[in-house]
Amino acid sequence: MIDMVAIYGSPRRKGNTAALLMQAVEGARDAGAVVDEIVLRDYKISPCLEIYGCKKDGECAIHDDFQQIRDRILAARGLMIASPIFFYTVSAHVKILMDRFQSQWVKKYWIDGTPFNTWTPSRKGFVISAGATRGRKLFDGMLLSMKYFFDVLDMEDWDSLLCRGLDFEGDAAKHPEYLDQARILGQAFAKAVRSGS
Ligand SMILES: Cc1cc2nc3c(=O)[nH]c(=O)nc-3n(C[C@H](O)[C@H](O)[C@H](O)COP(=O)(O)O)c2cc1C
Repeated sequence: MIDMVAIYGSPRRKGNTAALLMQAVEGARDAGAVVDEIVLRDYKISPCLEIYGCKKDGECAIHDDFQQIRDRILAARGLMIASPIFFYTVSAHVKILMDRFQSQWVKKYWIDGTPFNTWTPSRKGFVISAGATRGRKLFDGMLLSMKYFFDVLDMEDWDSLLCRGLDFEGDAAKHPEYLDQARILGQAFAKAVRSGS
């Protein structure tokens, strides 16, 4: 059984968030976790068209690679998701995925009638992000989007690794402290997901 899904949300295959997430995945595997890796740029996912075909039964009316990614995420107890900061929020790849989960939001709140803020988390989420600059608010927009994305997934926000000052491809490799932290957090996340703590 899959313990967790790892989503690479950057358009760069070997970029900074990919380097960090790879370390976290290795750490999680060292701790015995079974990890399903998804490189978002390899999938064809349309943006949400806001037609609300999902109102009927929570199923998105656009049929593309979204459904298989949704099912893989929902089948796992943990999600590690990595996104670069693009204009103070997530990458377009990650945002498109988030928006398609509006169908799941419709299912949870409109169809199933789950009262707001009363659900119990059944999954855990771990966010990895990197931005070029160093401002205090650099990750605020991204974290707010993730908070509500995790809500849709019945997911508790477990922890995050937020790395400032990374810009060009290869910059993460010049920061062994970030890579070490990613590996350690990946190990700890695997333990938390497996023990349910
Ligand atoms: C379209 C675009 C928008 C960006 N916006 C920001 C930004 O708002 N703030 C920032 O600090 N860096 C910004 N960056 C820089 C990236 O966050 C940075 O290069 C990051 O390390 C990229 O991670 P990746 O290699 O995993 O894609 C932007 C880069 C691009 C291409």
